[in-house]
Amino acid sequence: MKIERTLLIIKPDGVARGLIGEVLVRVERKGYRIERIKTLTMDRVFAETHYAEHKGERYYKDLIDYITEGPVVVAVIAGENPIDNLRKIMGATDPLDATAGSIRGSYATSVTRNLVHGSDSTESAAHEIALFFPEMAD
Ligand code: RTP
Ligand code: MG
Repeated sequence: MKIERTLLIIKPDGVARGLIGEVLVRVERKGYRIERIKTLTMDRVFAETHYAEHKGERYYKDLIDYITEGPVVVAVIAGENPIDNLRKIMGATDPLDATAGSIRGSYATSVTRNLVHGSDSTESAAHEIALFFPEMAD
């Protein structure tokens, strides 16, 4: 089995609503290991680096306002095919399109306040892990 990694963020609404455990239990029960985990509050400069590819989108300001409004939990998740599996567990970006049993399908109503983030490719996972956990970069 090839061990790969992805970055998971429990966004400010997930932390504020007390859903950290609910998200992590699903990730662990699926078979993944939480390799690193920490809580932090992103400032705007950091958030703009993390979401740089979205600059110019009509929802960009809402996205930065939202992700900086309070503490988030950031974790490195390791195991087999974590990028695609985590995005499946999370459900589609818009909770309206997310499968009913997924995290967003179960706990979110808004496309902006959609509770969780997961890296979307091997490249973005490496980039995001290095951004949030620079001590892991080789
Ligand atoms: P994420 O990056 O947070 O894991 O979410 P994602 O891949 O499912 O979605 P992405 O397209 O990367 O969008 C990043 C975040 O921007 C907000 N968004 N709002 N109002 C809108 O139409 C809209 N579209 C995207 C969401 O918070 C989304 O998670
Ligand atoms: Mg994304």
